[in-house]
Amino acid sequence: MSAHTSSYEPKTGVTRWLDSRLPILRLAHDSFVDYPTPRNLNYWWTFGAILSFMLGMQIVTGIVLAMHYVPNTTLAFASVEHIMRDVNYGWLVRYLHANGASMFFIAVYIHMLRGLYYGSYKAPREVLWILGCVIYLLMMATGFLGYALVWGQMSFHGAVVITNLFGALPLVGESIRTWLWGGFSVDNATLNRFFSLHYLLPFMIAGVVILHIWALHVTGQNNPIGVEPKSKADTVNFTPYATVKDGFGVALFAVMFGFFVFYMPNALGHPDNYIPANPLVTPKHIVPEWYYLPFYAILRAVPNKLMGVLAMFGSIGVLFVLPWLDTSKVRSMRFRPQAQIFFVLFLLNALLLGFCGANPPDEFLFRVGAEGPGLTWVWASRIGLAYWFGYFLLVMPFLPLFEKTRPVPDTISSPVLSGAATAEKA
Ligand code: HEM
Repeated sequence: MSAHTSSYEPKTGVTRWLDSRLPILRLAHDSFVDYPTPRNLNYWWTFGAILSFMLGMQIVTGIVLAMHYVPNTTLAFASVEHIMRDVNYGWLVRYLHANGASMFFIAVYIHMLRGLYYGSYKAPREVLWILGCVIYLLMMATGFLGYALVWGQMSFHGAVVITNLFGALPLVGESIRTWLWGGFSVDNATLNRFFSLHYLLPFMIAGVVILHIWALHVTGQNNPIGVEPKSKADTVNFTPYATVKDGFGVALFAVMFGFFVFYMPNALGHPDNYIPANPLVTPKHIVPEWYYLPFYAILRAVPNKLMGVLAMFGSIGVLFVLPWLDTSKVRSMRFRPQAQIFFVLFLLNALLLGFCGANPPDEFLFRVGAEGPGLTWVWASRIGLAYWFGYFLLVMPFLPLFEKTRPVPDTISSPVLSGAATAEKA
């Protein structure tokens, strides 16, 4: 797919001159203009563009915030308030950045679930998927570091809880924790390095995104039926078809983003983070940002701290080996009705884990009467943890041995041209 011959023809003297020295316009043309794109891509394929937009948004707003923010424990909180009250449009830049982080995660979860459903991680796209997992880890780290910068109560105590997790590691734990803190507690040195790293990581993400898109252009895009394009009839040019569709997807997403920024800018945050950090007053319930909640639930589900930490990292680590866990010969779940059921259960289970992470572990999810038996949040998260690993380690490898799949079309264009797609819809 990617080895198609270049159709770029420089039209002016300047572009001809540039093309023989640095063929960057040729690269852009071959990658984003006449790049062959499967003709059946649906709107789930616009999330890569949405993510690119959000990454740009976070970098631009972050750079502006950094012009006014002060990474010092005595001034950090006040500098954020200064941005909100005194800096021209500072409130807008900060709300775009804070809500932008949440939007970025909404988009990345949809993007990853799309990959999971349509089998986009399967050969030959393993490296593309693994690079995505690296991006996801970097995003998690960046979000955590950024949240700490506000130096509110949740920032501070969240940073204490998460950095303390490393202390659970045998032998090296204590040293790693001290090294991360830059001292013997979360303090000024910690805030300084968090700021430095929070500035650095988005650029590393941008670097890995370039590799991600490079890998994508080597294998070509997957598509809803999971059958590789075989002829010209199966593809259309990236521009205008994908560009316009991506642009529309980004615009719709921006409307939802704007709704949060202008109408409910604090809905996704925690009120305690409007209280300046106080190491002597620990909030009753320390909760991370919503996008970490399922993993926080997995951490708390295991009574042993080290095992909890390993389960939490394992629940993300398992994503890296997904291409080798799934043994199905049929790539897209569109033709795997039984796999679809387990996928929906996976989604519900991830939501359940999210609620478990947000609630106090020993309170009840439900209970018969005031004193009767019931299910506590910690037990619900144990069920969630079991299904999370069961899905990846049992359902993925073993379901294909028993499942009955639907017939898969030979080519992308055949169902369209034979009218089967219309018949199926009707
Ligand atoms: C900053 C974050 C990310 C950006 C900017 C990004 C960008 C893109 C773009 C532009 C595409 C092509 C368009 C599309 O298929 O939507 C793509 C495809 C893909 N991405 Fe990402 N991505 C990101 C994160 C991730 C993550 C976290 C994963 C998985 C762990 C992932 C896995 C994939 C896969 C498997 C494809 C190929 C999809 C297919 O062809 O079916 N990406 N990405």
